[in-house]
Amino acid sequence: MMKDDIKKVLLSEEELHARVAMLGAQLSRDYAGKNLLMVSVLKGSVVFMADLMRAISEPAEIDFMVVSSYGSGVKSSGVVKIVKDLDINLEGKDILIVEDILDSGMTLDYIKGMLLDRNPSSIRICTLLDKPARRKADIQADYVGFTVPDEFVVGYGLDYDERYRNLPYIGVLKPEVYSI
Ligand code: IMP
Ligand code: MG
Repeated sequence: MMKDDIKKVLLSEEELHARVAMLGAQLSRDYAGKNLLMVSVLKGSVVFMADLMRAISEPAEIDFMVVSSYGSGVKSSGVVKIVKDLDINLEGKDILIVEDILDSGMTLDYIKGMLLDRNPSSIRICTLLDKPARRKADIQADYVGFTVPDEFVVGYGLDYDERYRNLPYIGVLKPEVYSI
């Protein structure tokens, strides 16, 4: 079972649910009367996106993009490739980039710059997790769910080698799982 590979639970289902509800309430206030377009960066943010969008009481459009920056490893390559671009025209939209984790920041730095060139009304970042210890790019999130220590985490959308995304909580993997 997946849970046999987890050393400890960092954020339980209840903690995640409560924090997402708070973020949703805050975003509902901040985006009242705006043209909110939530942009999910697949695949890691899919679970967070699905919960967060339902915690927002104002109208919101959604779109998805796929980038690759990591391959199957644990460390950032620093190279960001657009695998699937957005479908919606960004002019006049208030973009909220929804991410699973802000780590080195290389991925979001690149995406934010690219989307800014398309003349949205505004652009902000909402990340479920922030790992500031590993930041390389000069970028901050406007909304952060939780600040986490420098440990590799999985679950609630986050993967190790495409596994563990369907864990309902966020946990730290046992070190022996990496070395297999
Ligand atoms: P960054 O470009 O280094 O900020 O990397 C962001 C991406 O790396 C995230 O969207 C994740 O897919 C992945 N990533 C970074 N840290 C972790 C982690 O602890 N667990 C799982 N994926 C991670
Ligand atoms: Mg990943």
